[in-house]
Amino acid sequence: MPRGVPGQRAFDAARRTLRWAAVLAVASTISPWAGAQALLDFSGAEKAAILSFGPWPPPAVADASNRWRMRAAVVEYGRSLFLDTGLSRDGTVSCATCHDPGRAFQDARAVAQGRAAGVRNTPTLLDVADRRWFGWDGAHDSLWAASLAPLLDPREMDSKPQALASRVRDVPARASAFRAAFGIPPPADDEELVVHLAKALAAFQATLRSPRTPFDRFRDALARGDRHEAARYPLAAQRGLRLFIGEARCSVCHAGPAFTNDEFADIGLPFFVAGGGVDAGRHGGLTKLLASPLNRLGRFNDAGAAGDPRALLTRHLKIEPRHFGEFRVPGLRQLARTAPYTHNGSLATLEDVVRHYDQLDEERLHADGERILRRLNLGAAQAADLVAFLRTLGD
Ligand code: HEC
Ligand code: HEC
Repeated sequence: MPRGVPGQRAFDAARRTLRWAAVLAVASTISPWAGAQALLDFSGAEKAAILSFGPWPPPAVADASNRWRMRAAVVEYGRSLFLDTGLSRDGTVSCATCHDPGRAFQDARAVAQGRAAGVRNTPTLLDVADRRWFGWDGAHDSLWAASLAPLLDPREMDSKPQALASRVRDVPARASAFRAAFGIPPPADDEELVVHLAKALAAFQATLRSPRTPFDRFRDALARGDRHEAARYPLAAQRGLRLFIGEARCSVCHAGPAFTNDEFADIGLPFFVAGGGVDAGRHGGLTKLLASPLNRLGRFNDAGAAGDPRALLTRHLKIEPRHFGEFRVPGLRQLARTAPYTHNGSLATLEDVVRHYDQLDEERLHADGERILRRLNLGAAQAADLVAFLRTLGD
């Protein structure tokens, strides 16, 4: 196109004006100190909310119920057990079959498939030792009890305590590996032996820590007042974060450095399961936990219930009708690597999760208690911002 044509000059001038108008429109929503880069002008309250999602990694949570947890030889033994298909009834399934170390310790399936099909989604095991309750329904109050359950579950590894114990006690190589780890020979009591295996598995899993993320770098930059570094965090993610802690009220439940309050809630997903029946969620989990000889009040707690502050939490649990259909609030770190989502894997992508909250069927929610969730009607741009934020919770 020839230059210097009067019409073209007018066109260029108009385009420059338009471009400046667009720049000013964006600039008016961002901080005047941000310079060329973009940092939303977060209020004091917003900053405090953002800082509460860190620092990362957090200090390790103590667990008096497992005295083997910090012993390096037991951690290594737990790692080998985790990969060992010899612990399953027919020698085909290990923990890693479903909790695949190459996939953030989950299986990318909607629901688990072990010796038989399960009804729940396999959770990641990254950061698992920080949780207060284990399983989507909170059926376990320790990592080791949650690690023992799959060994015996007919849909998972389908072993029996007696068979499992004799496979360790009566195979010389396995017996000596046990002795090398714990410094004692395999116990004669089957249950006690299996609990030792579970405590080694827990010791290994307690080392699984998710890495720092773009969000953590942003959060720490805000904490130090480093606006230059903070402004490198994508603007869409900043807007999504503002929604997450504000209008969309996500952080009422997804709170703290792991983005979970360690409680249970009903977000209005259907609780019917394939093949009929319902998943009672927390209601069923509490019933199991309180009846279990493996809970923190039982004889396998290394500190005894009196010596373990976390046993008090178990002692004070009560089953109430509202627990029906509640599931554990999952942490949100490394989400991009852990699709599909929710207890039954029914939401395939993060876009689907946000759409679920956005178009929530309020009739499906529990009527009792404070209503936290409500239909958001965000619109496409805000929904995309929320997803952009969630993606920054991964490395
Ligand atoms: C067949 C697939 C499968 C196998 C095999 C399996 N798991 Fe799991 N795991 C799951 C599923 C599904 C859940 C969720 C269970 C629930 O909520 O009821 C789960 C939950 C857990 C949890 C609780 C996690 C949390 O965030 O609360 C731990 C811990 C765990 N498994 C450890 C293990 C260990 C250790 C092994 C091997 C001994 C193992 N799993 C074998 C599928 C499996
Ligand atoms: C009332 C508490 C509560 C609020 C508020 C809440 N969530 Fe959740 N969230 C949950 C629970 C509980 C689950 C698991 C539900 C299930 O499996 O049935 C969940 C699941 C998720 C998951 C799936 C994670 C996974 O690993 O499967 C994502 C992502 C998520 N929520 C993001 C959000 C966002 C974004 C918001 C705000 C729009 C939000 N949540 C608001 C309680 C809440």
